[in-house]
This record gives sequence, C-alpha cells and structure tokens, in this order.
Amino acid sequence: MRAPEARPWPRPWAVGYVMLLLLLFRAAELVPRVRRQSGYTPDWPSLDSRPLPSWFDEAKFGLFVHWGVFSVPAWGSEWFWWHWKGEARPDFQRFMRDHYPPGFSYADFGPQFTARFFQPEEWANLFQAAGAKYVVLTSKHHEGFTNWPSPVSWNWNSQDVGPHRDLVGELGTALRNRSIRYGLYHSLFEWFHPLYLLDKKNGFKTQYFVRAKTLPELYDLVLSYKPDLIWSDGEWECPDTYWNSTEFLAWLYNDSPVKDEVVVNDRWGQNCSCHHGGYYNCQDKYKPQGLPDHKWEMCTSMDKLSWGYRRDMAMSDIAEESEIIAELVQTVSLGGNYLLNIGPTKDGLIVPIFQERLLAVGKWLSINGEAIYASTPWRVQFEKNTSVWYTSKGGDVYAIFLQWPGNGVLNLKSPVPTPTTTIMMLGIQEDLKWSPDPDKGVIIILPQLPPSAMPVEYAWTIKLTGVK
Ligand SMILES: *[C@@H]1O[C@H](CO)[C@@H](O)[C@H](O)[C@H]1NC(C)=O
Ligand SMILES: *[C@@H]1O[C@H](CO)[C@@H](O)[C@H](O)[C@H]1NC(C)=O
Ligand SMILES: *[C@@H]1O[C@H](CO)[C@@H](O)[C@H](O)[C@H]1NC(C)=O
Ligand SMILES: *[C@@H]1O[C@H](CO)[C@@H](O)[C@H](O)[C@H]1NC(C)=O
Repeated sequence: MRAPEARPWPRPWAVGYVMLLLLLFRAAELVPRVRRQSGYTPDWPSLDSRPLPSWFDEAKFGLFVHWGVFSVPAWGSEWFWWHWKGEARPDFQRFMRDHYPPGFSYADFGPQFTARFFQPEEWANLFQAAGAKYVVLTSKHHEGFTNWPSPVSWNWNSQDVGPHRDLVGELGTALRNRSIRYGLYHSLFEWFHPLYLLDKKNGFKTQYFVRAKTLPELYDLVLSYKPDLIWSDGEWECPDTYWNSTEFLAWLYNDSPVKDEVVVNDRWGQNCSCHHGGYYNCQDKYKPQGLPDHKWEMCTSMDKLSWGYRRDMAMSDIAEESEIIAELVQTVSLGGNYLLNIGPTKDGLIVPIFQERLLAVGKWLSINGEAIYASTPWRVQFEKNTSVWYTSKGGDVYAIFLQWPGNGVLNLKSPVPTPTTTIMMLGIQEDLKWSPDPDKGVIIILPQLPPSAMPVEYAWTIKLTGVK
C-alpha cells in the first residue's frame, strides 16, 4: 500500500480547548428555546405514550449504511480509531506501523475520505431495487466526523475535509425522489472529543459536550434534513439526563418540522434501550424468542464482523442470501423490522458482493413482498420445527417455508381450514391441491416444478385464504 503523505496542520482539535469553548457560546444559539404548555412533556411516561407513526411498521425492511472516515483505513471494523488509540490493540498498532508513516494520525485519514465516485442516484436505485422502504445513514459515528456541513464540527466534517460535499443532504434528495424514507444514525458520544472527555472526568456532572456538540447537531440535523427516523446510538456511558434526551424528544414530538411522521429508536441514555423511546432495538442483532409486545427492529450487518467497509473481508464473513432472507422472514413474523447494513468504500462505491445480495433480496421481495410489507403477526408466528413462519394481512394468512419438503408435501399444523379455504403459492398462478389434516391443520401438495420454473430459490410463500 502506498504510504499517504502526512498532512500538516490544521487538524481537528489541534487548536485545543479555546476554540471549543468559544464554540460553546455559539452553540447555545443553535438550540431552539421552545416552551410549550401542551403536548408531550420531557419525561419518559409522556414520551413513551406517543403512538408510533404507522409508516414504520408497514415498511418492514430498511437498509443501514455505515460510512465515514473509518471507511479509509477500511480494516478491522468501523471501531478502528478506538481499537488503535483507545484500546491500543496490538493488531491495529501493527497495521498502522506497517502501512503508514510514523506520526500519521487518525485525522490524516480525513482528506482521503474522498467519496469521489459517490452517485447518490445510483445508490438510491440500488436500494429501491433491493426493496428497502427506508434507509438509515450514519450522519456521524463515534469518531465525530459529520457527513454534513455541521457548523459545530470544526474542520471535521464532509464539507471542509475529504468529499467537500454534503453527503447527508445529497443522499436524502435521491431517496426522497423515490419515496424511500430517510433515517439518520447519530452517535451521542464521541470517543475522543475533548469536551466529552472533560465531562467524563467530571463524572458527567457538567454538560459542556452536550451543549456545544450533541444538541446543536441533533437540532441542526432535524431542521436541515427533516429525517423520518433518528437512529440514536453511543448513549451507554451516561444517563439520559446528561444527554438532555427527553427535552430533545419533547421538542421533536411537539414542535419540530417532522413532529407527525418522525420515528426514533431506544438508545437515549443508560438503561433506556429496550425500555424507552420509540421502537426498540435492544442490542445489536437482537433476536427475541417470541412475539414482543412493543414494536422493534433487528439491525444486522451483511458483513458479519463489521458495519463499516473493510478490505480484509472474506467470503465466509458475508451472510448468504438464504440467511438474509430467512432472517427477514423471521423478524417480520415476530413483528419486527429488518435493518440490513452495508458499508460503502471511501470512494462512495458499494462493492459488487453487497450489490448482489441486495438485488437478491429485492428479487425475493418482488414475488413475496405481499407477505412482508404492511403485514401483521399472525395468531401463531412459527411452526414448532421453525421451518415455517407466518404473517397475515386482512383475512389472509401467509406461511413462508424455508425448506422444501423432500416428499413435496407441506403439512401446516396451525391453520384451521373452513369451507371457503383456498391455498396458493406466491409467484404461481394456479391454486394448490390440499386436504384437511385429520389430526390438525392442512396437508398441501406442492407443485412439481423444474428449478427454473420455481418462483424463488428459497423461502416460498403459501397464501391461505379463508382459514382460522
Ligand atoms: C428523480 O428521479 C428520476 C428517475 O427516477 C430522475 O430522472 C430525476 O432526475 C430525479 N430528480 C431529482 C430531483 O433527483
Ligand atoms: C443502569 O443500570 C445499572 C445496572 O442496574 C445501574 O448500575 C446504573 O446506575 C443504571 N444507570 C442509570 C442511569 O439508571
Ligand atoms: C437540559 O436539561 C436540563 C434539566 O435536566 C434543563 O434545565 C435544560 O434546560 C435542558 N437543556 C436543553 C437545551 O434542553
Ligand atoms: C416442519 O414442519 C412442517 C409441518 O409442521 C413440515 O411440513 C415440514 O416438512 C417440517 N420441516 C422440516 C425440515 O422438518
């Protein structure tokens, strides 16, 4: 690898605390001061009582995009800076020693984040072809680099450094043009921000960082880009009172330009996740055992070992098409949304292996989407052997089976047939032959088809009309 030239000053934070304290005064003007008598009050019982805007549950499938300066080293994971400087992991230190000149800092990666070939229209076309109804972009990850021209991220944003473009704005325009909802991931904390470290030293009794950085940027994102979703993260070191989360959410729900449609997740302070906020993410890659009583979303990554793009990815690290589709089906059956992540390169390209997987999901959804989008969980979510998963819509029940039975006969135990029952497979015109199972359920004779005539390669959907 060619050693990149070392960058001279200015670097973010090179000017130290003075600049940042000046920023504090400027930042105070950027936070709207609104006091409302009515509407939601800044406490969890009130905020948690807000009904979730319906578009989110109907959407079912979204894409997550992790993109930032971490896409430049593109090695290990998007936690590169932390593994290198925070934890001082030997493998990351060796990587830097072997490939970069001495004294090369993380900030020196910034100018190489060029996004040179980033074509938001192309991304949006791909995401649309994948069947995604919403897309969540990292507006700012834990490294603090903002993918939009934040006025409080001095020399550490995509307008001043690297792309010299407003990435958040450009992607939003392209998505909106295709009626894809737009979500913004935002990390509350930043690993190495001096004001955050100062607050931390003070046991989070002070809020210099929150007032200078977090809140101005959250309000700026909402006012500038009117996101449909705010995907909060990086909350875990401090209580929500440190982050002023409830005050922000009360403004978001009562007075912001997106108050009627905006959706948020649950990462707003220590112990909030899985308890407070909008829908629940709980942990990354969360998989509940049964049907949760609160709307949830499973976020997961196509590259099983990283959310950001990394060059050291191996084929065996990448989820198979069948795995992705099975996970989507299982999540939706259990009332969740499925948020699938990909990491673009520093140039703004989405590598073909990710494109291929996304297009495969899109192809599957083009046949089976009827059983997914705007569906609701059924009375039974899955058969005991977990190879059949149910959803429902109106009076119809959908049974999605993940394995084709060797004898060509599918025995569904849960649906109770009636005199009006009809059974078909999505993607095939004729009704299927079936009979009531004298024991329980229905016995369905699957069509005998050559592989080329199969509607899909895995996870076939049986549509049952008139069953109980
Ligand atoms: C919207 O998308 C269409 C194609 O889908 C394209 O022709 C048009 O230029 C786009 N408009 C904007 C404003 O991006
Ligand atoms: C979160 O829970 C942990 C463990 O129960 C507890 O120690 C901590 O004080 C809690 N933090 C807040 C902000 O409630
Ligand atoms: C942050 O919360 C405190 C109370 O915890 C409140 O006094 C202050 O006004 C809040 N600031 C903002 C900007 O919401
Ligand atoms: C799972 O159970 C269903 C019926 O409940 C049956 O039709 C199917 O063959 C079973 N699949 C496997 C892989 O055992």
